[in-house]
Amino acid sequence: MGGIVKEAKRGIRKVRKFLDQRPYSNPKLEKDIVTGFHRLYYDAASLGKTWKNTRWLGIYTQKCPLDLWIYQETLWDTRPDVIVECGTAEGGTTLYLASMCDLIGSGRIVSVDIDTKPKRPAHPRITYLSGSSTAPDVFAAVKKHIARDEKVMVILDSDHSKKHVDEELKIYSNLVSRDCYLIVEDSNVNGHPVLPDHGPGPMEAIDEFLQKDNRFIIDDGKEKFYMTFNPRGYLKRVK
Ligand SMILES: C[S@@+](CC[C@H](N)C(=O)[O-])C[C@H]1O[C@@H](n2cnc3c(N)ncnc32)[C@H](O)[C@@H]1O
Repeated sequence: MGGIVKEAKRGIRKVRKFLDQRPYSNPKLEKDIVTGFHRLYYDAASLGKTWKNTRWLGIYTQKCPLDLWIYQETLWDTRPDVIVECGTAEGGTTLYLASMCDLIGSGRIVSVDIDTKPKRPAHPRITYLSGSSTAPDVFAAVKKHIARDEKVMVILDSDHSKKHVDEELKIYSNLVSRDCYLIVEDSNVNGHPVLPDHGPGPMEAIDEFLQKDNRFIIDDGKEKFYMTFNPRGYLKRVK
C-alpha cells in the first residue's frame, strides 16, 4: 500500500513539474508546443475541422482566426484605400476585409481568381476580377482600380508554388505603399511546419525575394499570437 502511495506522489510531482514549466522562458518547449499545435490544427482540416470549416458571415474563409485578427489590427493601423487579394476562392476573406472596411469607414477590395466561383459574396466595396494573377492583362486591370496616391495593401493567396509566388512578388510588390503590407499567405507549407511534401512554396519565394529587395522587411510582430499560417510572410514596405 505504502509503495502505491509513494508511486502516486512521485507521479503528481512529475505532473506538477511539467505544468510549472514556463514555455515563454524555455524556447525549445515553446517551439515544440507551437509546432505541435500548428500541425494538429492544420491537419484537423482534413476532418472537416479548422481552416476548411471556418466561415465569416456564412462564407468559407481559408484562414486561421489568429491571422484574421492580425489583419483587423493591420487594417486599422494602416488604413489602405485599396486591398488587392490574389486568390478569392469562396470569398470569405474578401467579405471579411469588406466588413472591416465598413467598420473602419474606408477601403475597397480588388480580388482576383483564376477559377470564378458562382456564389461569391456581393458587397459594394468588392470588385472581382477573373484570370491568373500574373497574366499581364489581369495585372493591368488590377492597376486600373488604383488611383494615383492611393494607399495599397496586397495579399498573395493564390497558387502557392514558389514559381508563381516569385512572379507575384515581382509585380505586386510594386503596388504596395510605404508603411503598408504585402502579406504572403501559407508560407507554413513545405514543412514550415506543415505539408512537408509540398515542395518549394511561399516561404522559399519570400526568402529569395528579400535577398534582392530591400524595400520590405519581415514584421515578426505580426506573429505575436505564436501560430500563424504566414510565418515570415507579413512583409512591411519601409522604402
Ligand atoms: C488558398 S485559395 C484562396 C483562399 C482565399 N484567399 C481565402 O482566404 O479564403 C487559392 C485560390 O487561388 C486560386 N488560384 C490558383 N491559381 C491562381 C492563379 N494563377 N491566379 C489567380 N488565382 C489562382 C484558386 O482558384 C483558389 O481559389
